[in-house]
Amino acid sequence: MARSVPDTNDGDAATVSAAEIARLAGVGRAAVSNWRRRHGDFPEPVGGTDTSPSFDLREVRGWLERQGKLTQAPSVESVWQLMDAARGRLDTADAVAFAGAALLVAASASGTAGMADAELDDRIRAVFTAVPDTGPPALPPVHTFRATLDGIAELAREEGGPQETFERLYGRFLTSVTRQFTATPEELAELMVELAGRPGGTVFDPACGAATLLRTALLRGQGVRPVGQELNAGPARLGGVRLALAGAEPDIRAGDSLREDAFPDLHADAVLVNPPFNQRDWGVEELEFDARWEYGLPAKGDSELAWVQHALARARPGGAVVMVLPPGVASRRSGRRIRAELLRRGALRAVIALPAGPGTPDGHPPHAVGAAAPRRGGGRALRCADGGRRRGGRRTRLAGGARGGAGGLRAVRGRAIGHGGGVGALADGSGGRPSRRGRGPHPGPAPHPRRPRRLRAR
Ligand SMILES: C[S@@+](CC[C@H](N)C(=O)[O-])C[C@H]1O[C@@H](n2cnc3c(N)ncnc32)[C@H](O)[C@@H]1O
Repeated sequence: MARSVPDTNDGDAATVSAAEIARLAGVGRAAVSNWRRRHGDFPEPVGGTDTSPSFDLREVRGWLERQGKLTQAPSVESVWQLMDAARGRLDTADAVAFAGAALLVAASASGTAGMADAELDDRIRAVFTAVPDTGPPALPPVHTFRATLDGIAELAREEGGPQETFERLYGRFLTSVTRQFTATPEELAELMVELAGRPGGTVFDPACGAATLLRTALLRGQGVRPVGQELNAGPARLGGVRLALAGAEPDIRAGDSLREDAFPDLHADAVLVNPPFNQRDWGVEELEFDARWEYGLPAKGDSELAWVQHALARARPGGAVVMVLPPGVASRRSGRRIRAELLRRGALRAVIALPAGPGTPDGHPPHAVGAAAPRRGGGRALRCADGGRRRGGRRTRLAGGARGGAGGLRAVRGRAIGHGGGVGALADGSGGRPSRRGRGPHPGPAPHPRRPRRLRAR
């Protein structure tokens, strides 16, 4: 039976454009222009300009319902429109986390429709205790968003459940914040988890954003306990709620992982991290004598080598570390001694040149780097591969293969480009760049979506 999307309450002052009205009603823009011309009772604009007017969402919805034009089941887009008022009052990441918290409550209580406002309010706030250092955002009173929250719960009931609904809202969020927010692409996250050998136990991401890497590890591994730190509180809360919806009991802290390490005693079973690139102000002055610089003090311009050492310091002996790094890290003169030390002690195991993709920050496709916190003995060979290329569809095994805790680094689809020789190249500062000898021309950027077919752990 056709149902309508719930109305917003008095506290909501959301407005919508003509294009958004068209999306709400599932029609084209021209139909909305026609309604405005032909129906004298169509709501008057409340803002915007003559060419781009905005309308009161509540009035528009009332009109659409009276006309029988709002008959579709709740959709992600209609819920996203309803959430506009929340987004006006909360940071967008927090507004999505708010929706996620409502979904968690709805899942645990078979819906929110019959729940008193005060109880819903308490339960939503309690969800944010999954992110202890950040606490709940300055949430608006639940009654002002009651219809929106009930609409979100209804959407989940109709379409695949709370986690699925939240992931679709999160996907919609990503399309609206492309400039302000960087997420690890799902396919890259899959690759990193495979390279780490689908780890179980404690998996740590010290730059976790909204937790795509941790969530992927959770879904692919067994008995994963996700632990993360993220500089910004909004994405940290979003990540915490996201992981809780995926069934985990996450420990996510907000703060600067390098300057204010929230997990100084952690010995994670695996560390997965796609850290920020090229940070100048990463704290070298304050952190000069930090115990994490086992392989040498990184230069001011070598923030990535600080991240590498932070990751290694938080992994248990033999624990896998998989990172995404810009290619310059393999060749900067300033990082030469640290790279040599990483190699000498067997911490660095594999370097894979990735094809260009949406996560490519500056036109230079990054490298996936596999490392492992050394056990006693060290001194293992380095595997290098060019993941942007594959010969004749044949699976190429990375020469040799790391064993032990980083067993997942053993083999990937890709093209082997060096073995052993790369060790010397990295150590002498020439970068360990994939040798061109015998490889033919560089393939150039490959579209990101093809990556998983080319790079897949056995
Ligand atoms: C490429 S994103 C990582 C995305 C994340 N791994 C995921 O799964 O989607 C890099 C993240 O590092 C965070 N960041 C930057 N500097 C940081 C710092 N010093 N400590 C912790 N997080 C930091 C950024 O806010 C951003 O969310």
